[in-house]
Amino acid sequence: MSAFGVFFKYISLIASFTTIGVLLCMAFLLLDDDGRLSAKAQKLKRLLRGSAFLWFIGSTGTILFTLATILDQPLSVVLDPIILRSFITQVTLGQYLFFQTLVSLIVFAFAQYVNKTLTTALLLLFSIIGLIAPIFESHSESGGSHGLVIGSLVIHVAALSLWVGGIIAIALLDPEDRPLAVPRFSELALWSVIAVVVSGSVNAWVRLDFQGAWNTAYAYVVIAKIALTLVLIAIGYKHREILARRESLDWRGFGRLILAEVLIMITTVAMGAWLSSTEAPVNPTLKNFDAALAIVGISTPPAPTWSRIFFSYEPDALMIGILITAMALYIKGVLVLTKRGDKWPIGRTISFGLGIAAIDFATSGGLGLYAHFAFSYHMVAHMVLGMIAPIGIVLGAPITLALRTLPQGRIKGESGVRGTLLAALHSKIAFFFTNPIVALALFDGSLFALYFTGLFGSLMQTHTGHLIMNIHFILAGILFFHVIIGVDPNPRRVAHLVRIVIVFTAMSIHAFFSVALMSSTTLLDHGYFASLKIPWVTDLLADQQLGGSIGWAMGEIPILLALVATFISWVKDDSREAKRIDRNTARAAAMGEPDDLADYNQYLQELAQRDRNEA
Ligand code: HEM
Repeated sequence: MSAFGVFFKYISLIASFTTIGVLLCMAFLLLDDDGRLSAKAQKLKRLLRGSAFLWFIGSTGTILFTLATILDQPLSVVLDPIILRSFITQVTLGQYLFFQTLVSLIVFAFAQYVNKTLTTALLLLFSIIGLIAPIFESHSESGGSHGLVIGSLVIHVAALSLWVGGIIAIALLDPEDRPLAVPRFSELALWSVIAVVVSGSVNAWVRLDFQGAWNTAYAYVVIAKIALTLVLIAIGYKHREILARRESLDWRGFGRLILAEVLIMITTVAMGAWLSSTEAPVNPTLKNFDAALAIVGISTPPAPTWSRIFFSYEPDALMIGILITAMALYIKGVLVLTKRGDKWPIGRTISFGLGIAAIDFATSGGLGLYAHFAFSYHMVAHMVLGMIAPIGIVLGAPITLALRTLPQGRIKGESGVRGTLLAALHSKIAFFFTNPIVALALFDGSLFALYFTGLFGSLMQTHTGHLIMNIHFILAGILFFHVIIGVDPNPRRVAHLVRIVIVFTAMSIHAFFSVALMSSTTLLDHGYFASLKIPWVTDLLADQQLGGSIGWAMGEIPILLALVATFISWVKDDSREAKRIDRNTARAAAMGEPDDLADYNQYLQELAQRDRNEA
């Protein structure tokens, strides 16, 4: 890419990081006013609009120069509206880059209207998704191990946006606001630094793990980045040391340290922008064409055996990153409770851990690997992600743990991070999605939308599509089982009878879906599995029908378990309710209060007596 192209990529990165850093300050680091943005946070809106606008300029320039590089044409040619429109509408990379530009524009437009910490937090999440989108189609596609290269770079950039963005935003804050923001940021910065270093190292290792790769300009820049990162870590350590002596802390001096840190960071980002705009050294061993490698990003594995299913591992770095973060946050929550002297049922931790392990097995484990190559294995992975893992997660009660351990307000009137989660749980959106009908439609209805509309075939074609499909299976499963057997607080009280009806409906819809699959006579993947030319799948239709029977067998069991669990909790609730009524009656009697129940029974007897007398 030309120097101008790298420059616009750089502007886009720095501006997007700053936008995300400012949103982070507004939503989590500065005080909030009972869930509303405080005056100090409101003051940051001008900065937010400025950085979002700069992001818009940078990402627009990145689209133009990326297209100019692909077509090897001057800017004047790519400015042709027809060429430009076809790039941003028909080419996946163009679509993702354009999506990022749209996100920057939406943040710029909405910046002045956000007033609640929850909406600001949602805008923050939206910005991070906009920032990472193009990476899924970036030059990382060119090498093998898509899951590892793309996933690690996505984590790298997302963590950088919080770390570098947070530091830049804190540097731009009024010095008197720093004492509030910095201590809370310090915790997040530590997690982000770990993520940046691990993901950057994994990415560098996968790209440069062959003869002669470290003797290239690309590798020298990576080495320079590692050196600068060590300096940044040393400064970060100094930060934490100074923070520990908060009482006597000279915040102006601290400001100077932050400034030095920002200068090193923006230099390192420039190196990163160059790296990501430069062709990485090509691994000569990958020269020979392999259809599966080009489409799936993984070489065709040998025929499946039990040991290969249970012991193969093809890491999907992004999914692993999400699972490690979820498990680490869960364990941190349990440690916070234990330190406070509160108990947390070990069964819940084990259940959550099993749920996480099941997801890892069905995405990066042997099952996840073979799910790319045969419909039958895809269906087993689907059932594990959508039916089995969610039960583990839901019975782990992660929301209850979060509500018991997330930081409360730092001062009276501040709702804090815990308050933002509560606001999310009580939001209209949460109320809508916890409607059992909606949960059932997402859980079972989406099966037909996915497999009988051709969507399945197009999602399987790309890494992003595959990831979105897996995340949908997991979230739809978690929502469904949360509504049916969840132990976490639910904005809706769903009656047991309604839950049982929903579970029975889910069973029948799932059975109908599986039978439709078992009796299917046409392939549903739009040629995806055929294009991989898998030597050990000789009959694609038979394999698809096998997937149907697996879906039926594996799908009905968890739903049946949910049915039994709902019955048990119904009986338990009823006896709990009966005990509560008895306790109230006994207490009322003890306090000489009229016993409504006894009085009512008395009244009924008198009525009956009168009827008998009249008869
Ligand atoms: C152990 C330290 C680090 C290592 C090994 C590392 C390695 C890498 C690698 C291999 C890439 C991929 C380049 C490509 O797409 O070909 C990358 C991208 C990048 N790195 Fe790092 N990095 C490290 C730390 C940092 C730090 C501290 C910063 C900034 C403060 C940074 C900023 C970036 C940026 C901006 C990109 C480009 C992201 C994009 O594609 O949009 N890196 N890094």
